[in-house]
Amino acid sequence: MPVELASPERREPATPAPPVSPVTPVSLTWTRPHLLGLEHLGPDEIVAILDSAENFVNLSQRTRKKRSVLAGRVMVNLFFEPSTRTRTSFSLAARRLGADTLDFTPGGSSLSKGETFIDTAKNIEAMGVDVMVVRHSSPGAPLLLSGHLQCSVINAGDGAHEHPTQGLLDMFTIRRRKGRLEGLTVGLVGDIAHSRVARSNIHGLTKLGAHVIVCGPPTLVPRNITELGVEVSDNLDAILPRCDVINMLRIQFERQRTGLFPSIREYARLFGMDSERLRKAKSDLLLLAPGPINRGVEITPEVADGPHSAILEQVTNGLAVRMAVLHLLCGQPTE
Ligand code: NCD
Repeated sequence: MPVELASPERREPATPAPPVSPVTPVSLTWTRPHLLGLEHLGPDEIVAILDSAENFVNLSQRTRKKRSVLAGRVMVNLFFEPSTRTRTSFSLAARRLGADTLDFTPGGSSLSKGETFIDTAKNIEAMGVDVMVVRHSSPGAPLLLSGHLQCSVINAGDGAHEHPTQGLLDMFTIRRRKGRLEGLTVGLVGDIAHSRVARSNIHGLTKLGAHVIVCGPPTLVPRNITELGVEVSDNLDAILPRCDVINMLRIQFERQRTGLFPSIREYARLFGMDSERLRKAKSDLLLLAPGPINRGVEITPEVADGPHSAILEQVTNGLAVRMAVLHLLCGQPTE
């Protein structure tokens, strides 16, 4: 399916962002049925998603007018872990493109009667599902399902492995704000070891030519992470002046054993972002966080709500990115 590049609905944003570096006319034909991660996508495929998302920005931000490119399609959210942004965003994205959506909640399902994960998914699929959006605590769960289902599978976060649409919306937000990705220095700060957002950011950003620095307490940064082509630091103050973008990651307590750092206060002092630390940064530093944020731990309220922060913009952009992904995976070529 050819990637759309121009949309008649497209208007300039209210606060003009720097122009996005020339969006190369992509004539890429999308062939993948699933989106399981960014690790195995080519740079051209990532650019195609980001370019396609540009066409949906207007639809996500301004108008409530629906399009019908997914009319007759059915998207199911299959979430085995909590979610605020991702699940809602997928539902809204699908509905604005005309699809029907359904939320599956494991509590109250036949999983409690002994039905397996695969059987549950296959039974839901048998009701005529086109795309299943899967979040699970086990790395590889969406990949496993993609081998058993006929429908498209989108990974909405699998353990500490990947969260491709979060990586894409982070990149999309950076590209819209900075006009490019290539040549930028992006710091990923915090719990790198347990963060699927970190891994998707690393794969996506390095493929598109950004320099990635991962920064956190040594106990929260895997030793072999350098194999992914990133720089490693345990000193935020030292790397901050070099960064164009900082992505503040949440400490993933739900995936940690205890005792990986002395105390939350100590962590916040060394790796949290506050106004004083921010003075060491470039004046145009862009501050991201995938959410949920723990105010006062990774980021203080005045910084989270301050002028450098694009945290809510990321959420808005997430809609456009998910519309693009859904459209590429299972949309009609024309309305
Ligand atoms: C992230 C996730 O679930 O991995 N959240 C999200 O999707 N916006 C990050 C997190 O939970 O810290």
